[in-house]
Amino acid sequence: MRLNKYIAHAGITSRRKADELIAAGKVRVSGRVVTELGFDVDEGGGVAVEVDGQPILPAAKLSYIALNKPKGYITTTSDERGRATVMELVSGAGGRLFPVGRLDGPTTGLLLLTNDGDFAYRLTHPKHELVKTYLARVTGAMTEAKLRRLRNGVDIGGYVTKPAVIEIVKAGEHSLLVEVRIHEGKNRQVRKMFAAVGCRVTELERTAIGDVRLGNLLPGHWRKLTSREVASL
Ligand code: URA
Repeated sequence: MRLNKYIAHAGITSRRKADELIAAGKVRVSGRVVTELGFDVDEGGGVAVEVDGQPILPAAKLSYIALNKPKGYITTTSDERGRATVMELVSGAGGRLFPVGRLDGPTTGLLLLTNDGDFAYRLTHPKHELVKTYLARVTGAMTEAKLRRLRNGVDIGGYVTKPAVIEIVKAGEHSLLVEVRIHEGKNRQVRKMFAAVGCRVTELERTAIGDVRLGNLLPGHWRKLTSREVASL
């Protein structure tokens, strides 16, 4: 297996970033610095690969997981302040997983985790523009003009959002349930979009990423993605 793929599969980074590390002389194979980009690693065992002086485990079996993130868990692999992280919820899944992108602490719903650095890089890269679908409970007066602004793009603090699909799913007495489909993922984007038109998101759930749906996965539970889902992403 190519050295860059071996590093990416160990969950260290993407293949492209692995190439940069190799070219920079930061990778050793069995004690020797390797700067050759096409270098092949013998997977039969017995090779020790180090990145920046840290030994990395042989290529792990790739895993792709969908988690229904409950409120109050933060999307990170470790937290120095000791807060609960999503990793606690997937400890039974095995492997060195990490989250693909992030959801805010109060946001619930679909979060993907993997140990495949290439996959995570592709999914979070802006040029891939994967559609993310959210259900937002929104308070504050909504008007046709505000809906048009949300759909066309609003300034969320130095950044104007790209065209979005915004549909009212249900109008209650005190709040609206709104489906939001965006192709980008700026920090707290959905909350900031509604704030930009004078409304407030009181609950936010991500229901799909591309064709991968949250479905009836219970909060705090995870499932493996099917190979068809992985291929679709
Ligand atoms: N938009 C938000 O406001 N929060 C999230 O977690 C994701 C999208």
